Amino acid sequence: MTTDGSTIEEDRRIVRETLSHYSGHRGALLMALLDVQYKLGYIPETTVEDAAELLDYSHPEVWGVLTFYSDFKVGKEAGHFVDVCIDTPCHVGGAREIWSALEEARKSPEGNPSFQLRRTSCPRLCSQAPLIAVDMRWHGRMTVERAREFVAGLD
Ligand code: FES
Repeated sequence: MTTDGSTIEEDRRIVRETLSHYSGHRGALLMALLDVQYKLGYIPETTVEDAAELLDYSHPEVWGVLTFYSDFKVGKEAGHFVDVCIDTPCHVGGAREIWSALEEARKSPEGNPSFQLRRTSCPRLCSQAPLIAVDMRWHGRMTVERAREFVAGLD
């Protein structure tokens, strides 16, 4: 488990060292991320930032690869991850209300605590805003009701 600072730092050191082997090789993002997962068994969330910096990609590009391939396991603390896009088109479409409903669903005494809630930036699917991702799979035209149904179904 990644519960203490030293393990987090060590994992990040391994991520950065692994990614640096692919630096300068345009098109190697997928291989680099697979290599990270092979070494650690998961993808630390900071990998998005590190891959963007070291391999010269934008955050949405790295995020896009991680969300497109379902084999990637991002983070390892929670059983499930629910990501809410909070950039402008999703914000205008109700991301804040969706976030609040999900937070309530997770924290309330009768809620479902088995998921971790994260804010994320635009995965470039704005035509379907607002969006949430459940375990790295995006779902568009989200509503508060549908978001509640998604997380109620997680075990
Ligand atoms: S702002 Fe949410 S998908 Fe683009």
